[in-house]
Amino acid sequence: MATYIGQKLFQFDVIDSTQNYAKEICNEAANGTVVMADCQTQGRGRLNRSWSSDPGLGIWMSIILKPNLRTADYPKITLVVAVALQEGLASFGVNAKIKWPNDILVEGKKVSGILTEMSGGDTVIVGCGINVNHSLEDLPIELREKASSLKVCLGHELDREDIYSKFFDLFEKYMCQFESEGFEPLRLKWLENTDSVGKDVDVVMATSTLRGRIFGIDHDGVLLVEDENVDLHRVISGDVIYI
Ligand code: BTN
Repeated sequence: MATYIGQKLFQFDVIDSTQNYAKEICNEAANGTVVMADCQTQGRGRLNRSWSSDPGLGIWMSIILKPNLRTADYPKITLVVAVALQEGLASFGVNAKIKWPNDILVEGKKVSGILTEMSGGDTVIVGCGINVNHSLEDLPIELREKASSLKVCLGHELDREDIYSKFFDLFEKYMCQFESEGFEPLRLKWLENTDSVGKDVDVVMATSTLRGRIFGIDHDGVLLVEDENVDLHRVISGDVIYI
């Protein structure tokens, strides 16, 4: 059972973005405070993309963390969230896989995304969006090729509270492990549950695109991509497209 994540929970019917509210309150908020909304009017994802957050269908939440880690370790929290999300969804029968850096896929389609942002020196805001009870027609037309929901994958609805409660338990367990034992056990778990390793990819970065094959992640959670000359590249940030 989670002892600090989700102990304090702010729930809204409608909000612009749980991420924004979490940022506003994070100085006074306790470690593990969660902001959740039934609907977001300006949900956002990585690279300032919009995140569709229709009422009643998904889990849209932001978790305020004050981790007992060096600041240099904070970027790895995204991968720890992915490990907890993947395992949590799998416990409901979902064949979920992690795609670097922040996606959870089922049958190649995205059902969940993670947005990790720093706020001040010692606070991290972890945003998670999970498409839960969407029917195919609830997903924006332009996303139907690439996105899905747990309901579409399983053929039945799920109770959103069951899912986020399970996630809180697992995420707390893995954050404690990260804080006490370091990243290596989580790196191994990540590698067990990703579908990225061995995939041929284009990695679209700020000023260039790298074509190669995913080799794994290193001890910093950085993506390792081998190009056609068998040179290994470290990718800190980029969009991975399976080809
Ligand atoms: C991504 O895949 O690019 C990350 C998506 C993160 C979406 C969540 S929903 C809750 C929180 N509030 C936001 O505005 N974004 C995150």
